[in-house]
Amino acid sequence: MKLLVVCLGNICRSPMAEGALRARLASSPLAGRVEVDSAGTGGWHAGEPPDRRAIACARGHGVDIAGQRARQLTVKDFEEFDWILCADQVNVRDVLRLAPSGRRDRVALLLEWAGVEAGGEVPDPYTGGPEDFQQVWRLVDSAAQAVVARLAAG
Ligand code: 4NP
Repeated sequence: MKLLVVCLGNICRSPMAEGALRARLASSPLAGRVEVDSAGTGGWHAGEPPDRRAIACARGHGVDIAGQRARQLTVKDFEEFDWILCADQVNVRDVLRLAPSGRRDRVALLLEWAGVEAGGEVPDPYTGGPEDFQQVWRLVDSAAQAVVARLAAG
């Protein structure tokens, strides 16, 4: 199973979600059986580490995401990954624009696919403060725990 988390810039929400998923999976019976990556619909930050506020927030929760590097979503990702899980509805729209017709049903909202909240979005913290990053962590870590439960249930 290969999961790709997508947001706009791939420096805040999706790197935090990738970190939360990796951490929750590593300490679960699924360890080693699920691959996780992240990407952005935009390429402005390609090659950069996550935003320093995202790194600090994740570190505060015991997860090191400093080694991640941003990249832009490509058409190849639709072949590579089983699911493309988006932070918000704008991401879903942008991802679907790039999706081959046979892969559109593999694009979903992260929080919805995880079973956390139908239609739920992870709000963009980029222009916000530390509390916005904490809120992102709460959401993506809830999603990570729910994803582990979902996949472990088969
Ligand atoms: P992200 O946040 O999509 O959660 O990585 C953003 C990062 C950068 C920008 C927007 C959102 N930006 O406009 O550069």
